[in-house]
Amino acid sequence: MDCVNGSLNQDDIKEFKSLDSEVQELINAAIKARTFSYSPYSNFAVGAAIRTENGQIYTGCNVENAAFSSSICAERTAACKAISEGHKVFTALAVVGQQEKSFTTPCGVCRQFLFEFVDNDFPVYVAKPSPYRVLCTTISSLLPRGFKTYIN
Ligand code: THU
Repeated sequence: MDCVNGSLNQDDIKEFKSLDSEVQELINAAIKARTFSYSPYSNFAVGAAIRTENGQIYTGCNVENAAFSSSICAERTAACKAISEGHKVFTALAVVGQQEKSFTTPCGVCRQFLFEFVDNDFPVYVAKPSPYRVLCTTISSLLPRGFKTYIN
């Protein structure tokens, strides 16, 4: 099993340096976006980067609010930036948070949000900057039997 765009068959934890250069680029974009996080309430900074079918990368960070429910996650920020500029076909997502003992996987709302736009095998790269490890997974692994349409 190789951890390359579109060819993930099962979850895998990889060393950053072993990944395809395009995946590394996506993760590095998420790491940079994380530095812009506005998270004064949780103090938990998250960065995300999503690649569109034309190869462009859109980035996002979490943006919190005093009325907590108005906050938005890094993943949805990135996806909404792309969609609002005319790009809604995606090839991969990277997410970066800093948790010592676990990977910062997308929340349930973000999983459902992304599921709207991608196929089951859409690759999601969940990276921790230190130690530099990457959980390589897919949207269908994160959201099995997800809901996509109410027609039929
Ligand atoms: N958060 C994200 O932005 N993405 C994730 O994948 C998990 C959680 C944000 C939401 C909130 O601002 C903070 O992290 C703590 O939950």
